[in-house]
Amino acid sequence: MRRIGIDVGGSTLRVGEVDVASGTLAGPVDAIPMPTGARPDDVLKALAASPVLRAGEGPVGLAFPSVAQHGVARTAANVDRSWIDLDVAAAFTRLTGRPTVFVNDADAAGLAEVRFGAGRALLAEAAAGGPPASRIMVLTFGTGIGTALFLDGRLWPNAELGHLMLPGVTDTDGEGWAAASVRTRLALDWFGWTRRVNDYLRELHRLLWPDVFIVGGAVSEHAGEWVPLLECRARVVPAVLRGHAGVVGAALAAADEPRSAA
Ligand code: BGC
Repeated sequence: MRRIGIDVGGSTLRVGEVDVASGTLAGPVDAIPMPTGARPDDVLKALAASPVLRAGEGPVGLAFPSVAQHGVARTAANVDRSWIDLDVAAAFTRLTGRPTVFVNDADAAGLAEVRFGAGRALLAEAAAGGPPASRIMVLTFGTGIGTALFLDGRLWPNAELGHLMLPGVTDTDGEGWAAASVRTRLALDWFGWTRRVNDYLRELHRLLWPDVFIVGGAVSEHAGEWVPLLECRARVVPAVLRGHAGVVGAALAAADEPRSAA
């Protein structure tokens, strides 16, 4: 079975067709520049015009960087505020005629990583008597920090732990301290940035005690440079699906409907 997955990122919209049984892309991914202003009408119209979307059929999964509750966007941390309280699923269905499952972007990436990426090996190892992996937290480092929580492979949707406050950091939240965008903005080297990520991991671990963190997001391509610098009491493994985890996970969510509708 194939489903269309859409991942809305800060600067690029990605649309791909995914074979949901294997978690792999069935063809090329459409990469569309984010329309100026990132307003709902413009973004949804740009997505609706995607040749990949139009060539495919059936339900669509749409991953977006906000709380996604029953089809509705509830927050707008790094996007235009006019998304708040918009029924994105219904708006996209009106525009395209396609049933749409609307999910948080980190939840989508997390689903893909846990089922077909780094998590699959961790769960298999654990089942064979290896280190436990019943509590997995997937983190995506990009413009913000996305977090997805899994217990025995099942997702607790819309965990917004990028907004956790860190001890001793009074002027911003976890993502304002350690997102990948902070590294670029402050021109930090990998060492300087991972010190901040370590502060963030320490606090997440102190409060939630996961067995494993899977770390990915926009900085995944450079995992070799920064993942070895991380220090944490839990295991930390790099995400393996890289830039396409959001597209794959959005398609998986569409295939899971109605179970995955947050
Ligand atoms: C948003 C989350 C999102 C994360 C990653 C945060 O600012 O609040 O909903 O998952 O960024 O895009």
